[in-house]
Parts: sequence; C-alpha cells; structure tokens
Amino acid sequence: MGLRIGVLTAGGDCPGLNAVIRGVVRTANSCYDATVVGFQDGWNGLVNNLRVQLYDNESIDKILGQGGTILGTGRMNPYELESRLDDIKATLADNEIDAVIPIGGDGTLRGGRWLMENGINVVGVPKTIDNDVANTDYTFGFDTAVSIATDAIDRLHTTAESHQRVMLVEVMGRNAGWIALQAGMAGGAHMVVIPEVPFDVNHIAKLMERRFQMGESYAICVVAEGALPKEGTMEMRSGGIDKFGHEIYTGVAQQLGDELRSRLNDRDIRTTVLGHIQRGGTPTAFDRVLGTRFGVNAVHAVAEGDFGKVVAVRNDRIERISLDDAVGHSKKVPMDRYKEMEALFG
Ligand code: F6P
Repeated sequence: MGLRIGVLTAGGDCPGLNAVIRGVVRTANSCYDATVVGFQDGWNGLVNNLRVQLYDNESIDKILGQGGTILGTGRMNPYELESRLDDIKATLADNEIDAVIPIGGDGTLRGGRWLMENGINVVGVPKTIDNDVANTDYTFGFDTAVSIATDAIDRLHTTAESHQRVMLVEVMGRNAGWIALQAGMAGGAHMVVIPEVPFDVNHIAKLMERRFQMGESYAICVVAEGALPKEGTMEMRSGGIDKFGHEIYTGVAQQLGDELRSRLNDRDIRTTVLGHIQRGGTPTAFDRVLGTRFGVNAVHAVAEGDFGKVVAVRNDRIERISLDDAVGHSKKVPMDRYKEMEALFG
C-alpha cells in the first residue's frame, strides 16, 4: 500500500494555509502516489476522527489563493490533547496514516513534538501572521498581514491630516512587533511601539509635541497588541489568561491614547484596532509561494522518513530544522531593525 499522510491546520487561521494544503496534496499525489487525509478543525479532527480525503483535482487547485483553511481550524488545551493519546492513535490506525503534517504556530508545533515523543511520525509546517516562529526567516501570512496593515495606515494618513488628529493603529503581534515594524515603516508611521521595547508614554508625548511644534498637523502611531509600558510609567488593565494559556489583551492602543490626550493639550486622538481583518482574505503572492514551498517540502521530508522536523526558510532556501529548534522561543525584532525605524520617529 502507498504512503498515507494526515494533514491538519491548528491555532489561528492565516492567509496561505490553503496554499500549503494544495502543495501537500499535489506533491503527495504526483511525486509519491501517496494519499492525503485531512483532519478537520485542528487537533479535534485527529482526536475525534473527523476526516476528509483530499484528492489532487480541480477543487484542490482552486484553493491556492483562497483565505482561511478548507480543513477548518481550532485550538485545544495541551492538557486535553495529551489526555487523548489513545483516541489519536485509534484515528491514525483507522486511517492507516504513516505520518502527520500539523500546520500551525508554537502551540501546534509543540503538539507535533509531543506526538513524536509518543511514537507518531511528524513533519511540521510553521504558521503565524506574527512572524515570530524561531529559526525561520518568514512564516506565510505575515506578508499579507503587513500589506493589509500598510493599506490601513495609508488610509489613516489622509483622514488624520484632514482633522489634525493623532491616530493610534493597533496591529497583531503578541510577543514580537514584526507587523508593527514592517507596516509602520511601509506606511510612513511617525512612531512604532513594539513588545520588544517597553514604551514610555511621556517620551511618546514629547515626540508628538516636537512634531507639532515643527509645524506638522497630525501623527500616526502603530502599536503592537502585545506592547507594554515601561515599569512604573503607566497602569494597564489586566485581562487575565484564557483557557489555552494566552494573555487576554485589554487594548493597549486605546489605553495609550487615553494617557496621551492629557499630555497633548486634549488634542483629538483616535484609535483603530485592525484585529482579525489582518488574517482574513486572499494571501499575497509571497505568502502563496512560501506556503506552497512549505507544503511541497514537508511531503518530501515525509517521503524520505526525515521525521521530527519542521520546514523553514532561510536565505530563500527551504531547510529542515528540528521541532525543538522551532518551539519555545519566539523570534523577536532585533534592535538594529528597531533603531532603523526609531531614526524616523517624530
Ligand atoms: O498568533 C496569531 C494571532 O493572530 C495573534 O497575533 C493574535 O493575538 C491571536 O492570533 C488572536 O487569536 P484569536 O483568533 O484567538 O483571536
């Protein structure tokens, strides 16, 4: 019997997931005569045997530029996942699966590592619009998110200028400020606030003030959702932790705006939270290509029996890194990249 590969998408969705799925199915079928079984709604599909056979046909071909994931996605608490090992093994036996390709971010790849530790063959594909998976230059979805955020910032310039306002734009980025940095630079923001550099509201106010004293009438500040104030400078509301262990955010841009207002003589300040718009819709050409390359190369790794790996891109080459190297630490914005942006502040 030919090779049988299981594939699932877990965690938050991300433009380019369908490009990966298509890359997996086409490569498996045409290079190895292998069968691909998709598991639905993330780990849930593997635990509860919710499956769909994926064929290399016209409908798979059409998903390349489609947003979201045709398999559906979902999150599962790691403790719950680990309590369902027997169910997962039963699903894999029932479908005669030789290896699983989980497509996801840090939590999903940790799940993949746990499967490997329990005797299940895994090759992971890294995914997150935040671009913070370690040891890969890029993850797909990031480029699309940056394009969407840049377009939003472009649009905010004209309305901000018309009303002489300060506009705060909150973008995604829990642990790393890649989207804020790239979109801020591409969109000509006057200030960027990222999780890597705790902010000081007085310093931001001074930069804005200096800008207005020089005759400028408006300002745009991009804020990553995970940004935090320097200790002792500003109180932030706490939102607690969700059932997956993620911090619940309380709107850093809005709170920063409230603090700035009094420091800027009650100037008009508005906040825009881009939220899930950054994750929706069709992927850019870059993300389609990266997703496709990840899908193709994940299947090659499976066919070669090179398990316990994650496909990654480094200097435009697809490499295989260990699951250990991909999880547990997020890839931060390096200080030299931040300093380049900082030179444009104000
Ligand atoms: O990790 C990717 C991400 O898009 C984060 O930037 C964001 O905080 C989170 O997912 C949102 O997830 P959810 O879909 O659960 O709201």
